[in-house]
Amino acid sequence: MEVKKVVVAGGGVLGSQIAFQAAYCGFDVTIWLRSEGSIGRTQPKLDKLKTTYLEAIEAMKTAKSPVDPVWCRGIADFDAFDPAACAEKTEAAHKSIKLELDLAKAVEDADIVVESMAEVQEEKTAFFAKLAPLLPEKTILATNSSSLLPSSFTKATGRPAKYLAMHFANSIWKQNIAEVMAQAETAQESFDAIMDFAEKIRMIPLPVNKEKAGYLLNSLLIPFLLSGLDLVANGVSDPESVDKAWKLGTGAPRGPFEIFDVVGLTTAYNIVEKYQKVPGLINPLLKKMMLPYNFKAQKALLKKYIDEGKMGRSSGEGFYKY
Ligand SMILES: NC(=O)c1ccc[n+]([C@@H]2O[C@H](COP(=O)([O-])OP(=O)(O)OC[C@H]3O[C@@H](n4cnc5c(N)ncnc54)[C@H](O)[C@@H]3O)[C@@H](O)[C@H]2O)c1
Repeated sequence: MEVKKVVVAGGGVLGSQIAFQAAYCGFDVTIWLRSEGSIGRTQPKLDKLKTTYLEAIEAMKTAKSPVDPVWCRGIADFDAFDPAACAEKTEAAHKSIKLELDLAKAVEDADIVVESMAEVQEEKTAFFAKLAPLLPEKTILATNSSSLLPSSFTKATGRPAKYLAMHFANSIWKQNIAEVMAQAETAQESFDAIMDFAEKIRMIPLPVNKEKAGYLLNSLLIPFLLSGLDLVANGVSDPESVDKAWKLGTGAPRGPFEIFDVVGLTTAYNIVEKYQKVPGLINPLLKKMMLPYNFKAQKALLKKYIDEGKMGRSSGEGFYKY
């Protein structure tokens, strides 16, 4: 399947990034937005992305290797880096993205539609139902939902074989993974086409062959973070020692508390709260095994920091001082 036209529904944090990255890689990109107000919010995001890419390209000139922290794998390969060409592609991407309010017009002749609207089940369902009669036969539809399983929307999409999930990470020009996840009725052909597209927009496509809440990354990351938090919340050790155990023992660059500080402690608190309510959310086995997570103590620990204004890196202090 040859992909030319890509439509992104929703121009928020991730929608604008997906659109920009696809345009950067030469695709014809339209963002569908629901109101004039959304245009007013999305255009500045695209302007900011242009600056971010141009600054990243400047910084990449100083990189000594592809694992240098300034290297952005979504922008260029280390061995074939041409800063001027990358800057040109950035300018062209910024100019070429179309913003459209009329959904029928937006999806006309679309090869791929990526849904990246707010994480609200009812609103996504209503959108898919409205979209269904407008899509050309050929279109493959992908949702970027982080926490809602694609099968929750299969019926509303009306195109089970041509529908799946493609999940990005924030800052996709740098953290360039795309977790491509099938639902039970996705055709192999559609799955392969999206894996291929993800690669063409310079992502590293990671196959998730069947539905799994949390995809790959969060299936690993969330139990890891909660386990670290639990050690401290239960008075077993302190944040620095837990981080050192992980880093020195495995060679990993960051421990759970350094990651918490990047994510922000309020988000961490919300995650713990969610898992306290539904312990089997990421892994139904957790519930059965009754892993001894002390959610109450975890929340109390996080709340103590939050109440002191220690929200993580963004506020200058979290578990560590910056
Ligand atoms: N932010 C992240 O780090 C991240 C990472 C991976 C995936 N995601 C997923 O991407 C999707 C979007 O997240 P985001 O962070 O970009 O959110 P956001 O709040 O920044 O943007 C949401 C966009 O959806 C639009 N929108 C909301 N309701 C709508 C409706 N009823 N009709 C049309 N448009 C509507 C908003 O105007 C906005 O443009 C979510 O499904 C989220 O789970 C987010």
